[in-house]
Amino acid sequence: MKQILVTGGTGYIGSHTAVELQNAGYEVVIVDNLSNSSLEVLDGIEKITGIRPAFEQFDLIEKDKVNQFFTKYPNIEAIIHFAASKAVGESVEKPLLYYRNNLVSLINLLEAMDQFNVSGIVFSSSCTVYGQPESLPVTEQAPILKANSPYGNTKQICEEIIQDTLVANPKLKAIALRYFNPVGAHPTALIGELPLGVPQNLVPFITQTAAGVRQQLSVFGSDYNTPDGTAIRDYIHVVDLAKAHVVAVSRLVEEKSKKQFEVFNLGTGNGLTVLDVVSSFEKVSGQKLNYKIVDRRPGDVEKVYADTTFANEELGWKAESSLDDILASAWKWEKKIRGIK
Ligand code: UD1
Repeated sequence: MKQILVTGGTGYIGSHTAVELQNAGYEVVIVDNLSNSSLEVLDGIEKITGIRPAFEQFDLIEKDKVNQFFTKYPNIEAIIHFAASKAVGESVEKPLLYYRNNLVSLINLLEAMDQFNVSGIVFSSSCTVYGQPESLPVTEQAPILKANSPYGNTKQICEEIIQDTLVANPKLKAIALRYFNPVGAHPTALIGELPLGVPQNLVPFITQTAAGVRQQLSVFGSDYNTPDGTAIRDYIHVVDLAKAHVVAVSRLVEEKSKKQFEVFNLGTGNGLTVLDVVSSFEKVSGQKLNYKIVDRRPGDVEKVYADTTFANEELGWKAESSLDDILASAWKWEKKIRGIK
């Protein structure tokens, strides 16, 4: 059985990917420092798949520990690297923390790959690298614009670090996956997103408002150049996203990559407004959501959604879930963690 290291594997996207990897017959080893997740996630993964993944708790910025890890697990065939700090606002307050965590952990992994003969890495990137694209849907060829947060900048710099490393080391291969807006939870509601404190992202804020944890959703801006004036994003079910990682890592371990470095957009291709999300949520939950329109949020782009042609054709993968399914899964998860019937 091929063994895959999943860094950040107890986190939101990492845990859903661990499930899909195990369902596809891979052996998963998770590394996580539990800075934004908990050990109970392993129980959820085990309940869904019947298999408890191996787990090591340490911080990837500690080089000695990274090297000890690969000495202990000499059969790792590829890495999926999720572990990173990801809060846009916090990255503005604490830029050096973001640069240290996100860049140093990647550098330590790339050095270890060379030393311990691991040839492939899948990297979690973001559509934030495109900023506000000039033309939509956005393809992988669109120019990378100056990042508007240190978090976004770490994604750009990490993609560059990977590319430079591959030039110097022809044995290595990498795939960067640029996520649009991952939302939803596993349909079993055994794993899902667990935001710390006040959620910054739309869907957890909606489900927490409906659950009575937040009083009211603020819709940021209604004067955008869109059909209803609210901003447009491409919301993708986290399970669809997880499945794309299985395809990407198989491409690496089965040596099917066409180039040493490949980049794929992971979205649905559908652009939806904030109010589309609100009304879909109201439909699937059967309850009205308390929201008000407020000013735009600084740093937000007006609209972004993916051209998914390359991922669909090259990976043979396509996002399948509808927005209603996605929000139903998010609501089921929120109700479960709040003990709502
Ligand atoms: C944000 C980050 C992005 C990151 C992603 C995943 C920015 C500019 N971008 O994407 O880099 O990869 O999260 O963590 O922060 N909205 C509301 N009310 C809310 C929350 C959100 O109206 O309470 C709106 C936003 O203005 C936006 C949409 O909902 O139009 C989606 O917001 P969000 O879920 O935060 O994702 P992004 O901002 O697209």
